[in-house]
Parts: sequence; C-alpha cells; structure tokens
Amino acid sequence: MRPPQRLLAALLALSTLTGCAATTSTSDGGEATVPEPGATATAPLPGPFRTRPATPAATSPTRSTSAARPTPARPTTPGPTAAAPTSGPTPAPSSIVVPGDAVDCARARCVALTFDDGPSEFTPQLLATLRGDHIHATFFVLGAWAVLHPDAVRAEARDGHVVGTHSWNHPSFATLTDAQILDQVHRSAAEITSLTGKPVQLLRPPYGAMPPVMPRTGMAVIMWNTDTHDWQHWKKPDVKATVDAALAQVRPGSILLLHDSHGPSVQAAAQIIPALKARGYTFVTVPQLFGGRLAADQVYAHRR
Ligand code: NI
Repeated sequence: MRPPQRLLAALLALSTLTGCAATTSTSDGGEATVPEPGATATAPLPGPFRTRPATPAATSPTRSTSAARPTPARPTTPGPTAAAPTSGPTPAPSSIVVPGDAVDCARARCVALTFDDGPSEFTPQLLATLRGDHIHATFFVLGAWAVLHPDAVRAEARDGHVVGTHSWNHPSFATLTDAQILDQVHRSAAEITSLTGKPVQLLRPPYGAMPPVMPRTGMAVIMWNTDTHDWQHWKKPDVKATVDAALAQVRPGSILLLHDSHGPSVQAAAQIIPALKARGYTFVTVPQLFGGRLAADQVYAHRR
C-alpha cells in the first residue's frame, strides 16, 4: 500500500517544519526546541540569590539543560497532575496528611497562595497582611534564610501557615548529585522543623527542576499553575504587573506562585487578596486544596 508511505513522508516533513526534534535526526545544527519535562533554566537568581553557587555539574549526560541559552525563561508551568519521575525503583506511595480545617474545594472556588525564597525582611509584613485577612498560605522556605530570619519562620507556623522547603540555598537540582539534592532537602527540612516543631512534608524544588531522585525525598512536590513572574521585578519593582498577572490567570483550584523575598511581591499580595475575595475565592493552604491528603511521590500543580 502506497498511501501509508506517503502519509509517513508527509508526517516526517511536518515534524521537521514544526521542530519536532523527537522524530527527526536532522543535523541542521539547531538547538532542541522541545524541552524535557522539568528541564531547568538558568534564570537570574531572585532576591538575595545573586551569586550562583559554584557547584560542579553532575547531571546525567542525557539530561540536557538550556544552560547555554542567553536569556532563558523560568521553566514553564507543568501541566496538570504532572507525573512524578518514573525511572529507577519506585517506592510505594506514602500518604501525607496535613492537619487543617477541611475545605471542600470541589465546591468552593479555592486558590492556594504560595510564597518562595523567604523568609526575608519582608515576611513579617506579609504575615500581618495574611493575619488581617484571616488567610492561611503555604511558604517554601530556604534553610539558609531560615537561619537568618528564624522568628519569621516561627511566626509562619504559629499563624497556621504550612511551611515546606525550597532547598537549603536555592541551587538548581539539575546541577547536583543525588546525594547533594537529598542533603539540600533534608538539611533545610531539619532547620525548619527545629523552628516550627512540625515535620516538613512539602517540597518545591528551585526553578522547578525535578531530577529522578525526587521521590526519594519522601515529600510531595508542589509546583504551580499561576506564575506572576514577580521574581523578574526585583530590580524594577512593578506591583501592578504582578497583580494583573495573578488576576488574569487564577482559576478555581489554582496554586499561585509569589516570592516573599521581594517587597513589591508582598505589596502585590495585599492587593491580590481583596481582588480575589471579591471574585468569591476561598484561600487555602496547598494541603487543604487537596483535601489534606497528598502522596509523597507525586507532583501537584493545581487541583482540577
Ligand atoms: Ni525560588
């Protein structure tokens, strides 16, 4: 039958035109246009992280990164219920139950505010805002910064917020060995627990990098589906852009990404909250968004 051959040729031609590198072996010298899921980017380090740690690359040779690109963007938001890495032995799923008031997010218009890269000198102001609005959020804290601002981490837990880890000092996990990654996660978690008295069960990897070792952390990996790009505004504060981005993207079930390492982001949160309240949103922690029950080997980006 000839038609199938013609169809195959047409498909190959189409795949070339659309840059579908996965189905062609062309040697046109162009860089791959289809990033790996979880591929990382060397985005400018937000907030205080303006010096990238000199960590030797230790990634698998098959895991290419976009390190050579001049102006890479943050990793794209993962799709809904992005699958956890599957290579290597898969441990039995373990359930994480985080106590908290039950909210039926199947019925309510829920949104989970999440704050990365803190604590910072701006965190107390944010906590005051959340306290005034009777809102609970989820913080992804850096261990090294928890050492510098221990009272802020204590206050986060005391106020009823959920505190997860964002690593010790914000390296891309794509540049680390498995042992280094586990050290980043567990050392920061130990520091947080020493301040809050509570186990750390949620992990947000810096830059969204998810190497195959992630399930071995024993934590639920929390991504996001609403990125305000507030981290890009630390040099040129733009509160309105952050507010507009949040209001344009949030949907029921969203996980909204902000950074309490930036003053403008904290100012933006104070405007985002009443605007979303006016639209009927209920603010929940990430565990509440998923009924208080998360799996330790899964990745969560939003509730359907
Ligand atoms: Ni970060």
